[in-house]
Amino acid sequence: MAGNTFGRIFRVTTFGESHGHGVGAVIEGCPPRISLSPEDFVRDMARRRPGKPGIASPRKEMDKVEILSGVFEGLTTGVPIALFIRNKDADSTPYKPLERLFRPGHADYVYFKKYGHFDHKGGGRYSARETAARVAAGVVAGKILAPLGVKVVAYTLELGGVKAKNIDLDMIEKSPFFCPDSTATKKMEEVITSAKKEGDSLGGIAEVRVTGCPAGLGEPVFDKLDAELARAIMSIGTVKGVEIGVGFEAARLKGSENNDPITPKGFGSNRAGGILGGISNGDEIVLRAAMKPIPSIGKEQNTVDREGHPAKMTFTGRHDTSAVPRIIPVLEAMAKIVLADHYLRSKAMA
Ligand SMILES: Cc1cc2nc3c(=O)[nH]c(=O)nc-3n(C[C@H](O)[C@H](O)[C@H](O)COP(=O)(O)O)c2cc1C
Repeated sequence: MAGNTFGRIFRVTTFGESHGHGVGAVIEGCPPRISLSPEDFVRDMARRRPGKPGIASPRKEMDKVEILSGVFEGLTTGVPIALFIRNKDADSTPYKPLERLFRPGHADYVYFKKYGHFDHKGGGRYSARETAARVAAGVVAGKILAPLGVKVVAYTLELGGVKAKNIDLDMIEKSPFFCPDSTATKKMEEVITSAKKEGDSLGGIAEVRVTGCPAGLGEPVFDKLDAELARAIMSIGTVKGVEIGVGFEAARLKGSENNDPITPKGFGSNRAGGILGGISNGDEIVLRAAMKPIPSIGKEQNTVDREGHPAKMTFTGRHDTSAVPRIIPVLEAMAKIVLADHYLRSKAMA
């Protein structure tokens, strides 16, 4: 099964399954002499992990990252870094009745068509458990970017139709939804509670902002920075759309309205979202991701079994009601992985 590796110089390979021994990442191309310890992972792993009562899957995982290789006396050595996160609370029992049925909206059906089997115990590789490995790799990428002054922040703009109107970045970590608007946070709590009660799920929109990114990251033609970011973000389950800068709104503007004026002091506006011609322009990078509602729901749905016979399905296993808020650190991680890779690529060219 290909498709487990991302990046050119800073190369991340993830492995593991939702209900196997654990998940992890092998990182090649990380420069030597960067300090790295298991404590570095604690904050972001805690932000992604399940178990937030009433909001996320009740699965309880501590998500402690073990560094298996690539670090000597607290510093990276330049050889592959292997990170491992053990599964401690995988419970396959509720999945047993689903062994022969495909969850609508999930990847069971297509995996079965492509590989002749699918992992009914939580989805295996296509479970969001895999994103724990991405978050761990993102921490290492962040270590490369931090000395450059690059900061990546993601937050929830919308959940179940409730929109954040007031963007106060100080509110993000105070909100259980990583939402920068306290009024919207309260409404989000209401909509998620009622969706959960109904056995349903919700979609949302998140925004990612990168400050301090130098001009010049990104390669011409196929490896444009916006193309790479979109690919990285779109590779996360539930993400169905990515916009850079004003995104789809640009289609409704005239050139005179959309162009960001260039002044001796820099750009007069940032509708481009910090990227022109696939290369960072030194301004803030702004992108948004649209997430579909979580496919595993408690409502009865029509499906088929492995032989194609019609069947009814009601999902009884543990699941999130929305990819928000757990996707937020995953979005940050993927943006950091792309930027670290392109930073190292730009240095290799110099
Ligand atoms: C953070 C996060 C948490 C998720 N939690 C669940 C979940 O609990 N149950 C579920 O069925 N899908 C969950 N998903 C979504 C599935 O992984 C995803 O919808 C599925 O792999 C199908 O891929 P697609 O949405 O790209 O078509 C989650 C996704 C993310 C990013």
